Amino acid sequence: MLILGIDTSCDDTSAAVVQDGRKIISNIVSSQSDIHTKYGGIVPELASRRHIEMIMPVVEEALTHAGITLPDLSAVAVCHGPGLIGSLLVGCSFAKAICYGKNIPLIGVNHLEGHLLSPFLEEQAPEFPFISLVVSGGHTSLYLAEDYGRYSVMGKTRDDAAGEAYDKVSKLLGLSYPGGPIIDRLAREGNARAVAFPRAYLPDTLDFSFSGVKTAVLQHVRKLSPDSSPITEHSLLSDIAASFQSAVVDVLVRKTEWAVNKTGIRRVAISGGVSANSGLRQKMKEMGAKQRIDLFIPSVSLCTDNAAMIAAAGYHRFLNKEFAGLDLNPMAYLSL
Ligand code: KG4
Ligand code: ZN
Repeated sequence: MLILGIDTSCDDTSAAVVQDGRKIISNIVSSQSDIHTKYGGIVPELASRRHIEMIMPVVEEALTHAGITLPDLSAVAVCHGPGLIGSLLVGCSFAKAICYGKNIPLIGVNHLEGHLLSPFLEEQAPEFPFISLVVSGGHTSLYLAEDYGRYSVMGKTRDDAAGEAYDKVSKLLGLSYPGGPIIDRLAREGNARAVAFPRAYLPDTLDFSFSGVKTAVLQHVRKLSPDSSPITEHSLLSDIAASFQSAVVDVLVRKTEWAVNKTGIRRVAISGGVSANSGLRQKMKEMGAKQRIDLFIPSVSLCTDNAAMIAAAGYHRFLNKEFAGLDLNPMAYLSL
């Protein structure tokens, strides 16, 4: 059974064809970072306009790449939230038009469920129950995933998401957007012990907080450059990047370990854009090996936003006949 997935929740236009919820036949992602970079973050109006330009060619490319046409599809799964409302509207409207025109079911998928189920697109997928760390630009949460559609929040960020902290730190260092991959690259050349940035472990809760470490980086930068001139010395930048990354990663890994100890469940999956981070992947693997945890980390292209994860999540809703009407509304805020 072939499902077309569509994701336009943020700044990537993506369409994918997935077979039986597991096998990726095509997965096309058109990034918009070129238009947002000079603003140091996403400009929502520009994002929606680019989605309008790209949705048709991206869906066509996904179908062509899969060697199929619309009548081969069993359903269309579209991300209807959370995300930027104008961006979501483009994907939802396009998905509805296909479903109406071809008389096939429409499935609304929560973006976070897409991330959470993205490890199922790999050959080695976790069995339920498992602990899931979803760590992206908009969210940082630990879930107990008991079955498809049965997820409970064990902890979530009280302020910034980890990816948001990466993007803000990149901006205050005078670097580009998105900040995560840039800081990740810089961090590999720096000394993680150069600056002792704070780690908000927040004892007695599995919640997170990343605004403190971001502010600490800001204060450190102000001390180094009282006249606010950009720091250009590469070794200073890479030391800050490595020290910041180490503070963020330590908290993410430690809290995941707590979640395992609290539940006794020794299967962990991580997903979302920040799970592409080399430092996080490495430290999580070290912790997993030490604690004898089965760890599931999707390949990098499945960590960041993509429509294959939406099609995969849509498949299970399809099996349960959880279809949306053509009045499906995009939702900027939608919890899992
Ligand atoms: O999942 P995603 O593509 O979109 C959201 O749902 O938010 O995540 C995007 C976030 C951005 O904040 C980006 O800076 C971060 O993921 N990111 C990374 C890396 N690659 C992307 N953060 C740290 N290291 C990376 N390698
Ligand atoms: Zn995402």
